[in-house]
Amino acid sequence: MTKMEKIRIVSYGLGAVGSRIAKLLLEKEGIQIVGAIDIAKDKVGKDLGEVLELDKKFGVVVSNNADNVLSKARCDVVVHATGSYLKDVYEQIAPLAKYGVNVISTCEELSYPYLTEPELAKKLEALGVKYAMTFLGTGINPGFLMDTLVITLTGVCQEISKIKAVRVMNAATRRIPFQKKIGAGLSVSEFKDKITSGKITGHVGLEQSIGMIASALRWDLDKIRVEQVKPVIAERQVESEAIQVKKGHVAGLRQAAHGIMKREDVITLDFQAYIGAEEEYDSITIDGVPPVHQRISPCVHGDYATVAIIVNSIPKIMNAPPGLVTMKDLPIPSAAVEDMRKSI
Ligand SMILES: NC(=O)c1ccc[n+]([C@@H]2O[C@H](COP(=O)([O-])OP(=O)(O)OC[C@H]3O[C@@H](n4cnc5c(N)ncnc54)[C@H](OP(=O)(O)O)[C@@H]3O)[C@@H](O)[C@H]2O)c1
Repeated sequence: MTKMEKIRIVSYGLGAVGSRIAKLLLEKEGIQIVGAIDIAKDKVGKDLGEVLELDKKFGVVVSNNADNVLSKARCDVVVHATGSYLKDVYEQIAPLAKYGVNVISTCEELSYPYLTEPELAKKLEALGVKYAMTFLGTGINPGFLMDTLVITLTGVCQEISKIKAVRVMNAATRRIPFQKKIGAGLSVSEFKDKITSGKITGHVGLEQSIGMIASALRWDLDKIRVEQVKPVIAERQVESEAIQVKKGHVAGLRQAAHGIMKREDVITLDFQAYIGAEEEYDSITIDGVPPVHQRISPCVHGDYATVAIIVNSIPKIMNAPPGLVTMKDLPIPSAAVEDMRKSI
């Protein structure tokens, strides 16, 4: 690619997150969206501008046929945002490799797939090497707050005995699908039914974040224990623009996970998302030499930050070695605020 050519992107998945990513891409210098893929009936066949509810057409028609798009798009990076589990998205992303395009996905499991999907991880690594392209799963969490940022902070420690990361967010400020995903507004029994039926899964990514931290520190964990999702019960009526939560009903959820080594809980991640959280923060505490305590208050806004880190990862993935990489394998994250071609 010459310095003059714009970086060519295909947007794959134009839901709540994918649409926001596409909108940011359209604002960025040095980048061009050359294709768009989604299966939703209300999107296929429409111009990207219409799907994004912008008063402009871009001459990019949303297609449900990835091969048709990729065979014509001559693209550099596919930005993918359709699902959380690698077994669900594998058949979407693996066939992209043969076009030699890099793939950045919001798929939580892809952020560190070696523990839960080792076979699929191996296949992606092999495809990447074969076709000289790179796969990366990232986002705000997993992808940054409870893994990459934690790992970065360990860089100033001589010794570490324990790590704890806590994220508390007021879900009222988050996108509506997210509020639904955490069960906000449900009665406790409805919440429990949805947990049983798998309609509420809790936070996907705690295991991946622990795996990534342990791998960076070369800690050989005995196991990772992910606690059951717990409802956070509203102590008073709380609401977002879209959802009203009665007192005694579910405002959201809480989930913790533990990395255990020699019977010690050496990594603890505690994720809380509910409507009405009074104090929002991200904190990381490292018991070590020296001890490190970092607190971001209010917590980083997940919707904006996911979109940002995906877009900011474009130059990083274009410069990355082929195969499957995770955030800990790339140079430290940084914002791509200038023409993105300057970073390639
Ligand atoms: N790592 C992180 O920090 C992070 C942060 C935010 C989001 N995420 C994850 O990113 C994913 C996307 O989030 P979202 O809120 O945008 O979800 P969403 O609103 O459900 O959007 C997903 C979009 O992808 C489409 N789609 C589904 N299967 C497809 C396929 N096989 N081919 C093409 N398009 C397909 C959907 O169409 P239909 O509606 O017709 O199914 C929908 O338009 C979720 O799994 C979410 O958990 C991760």
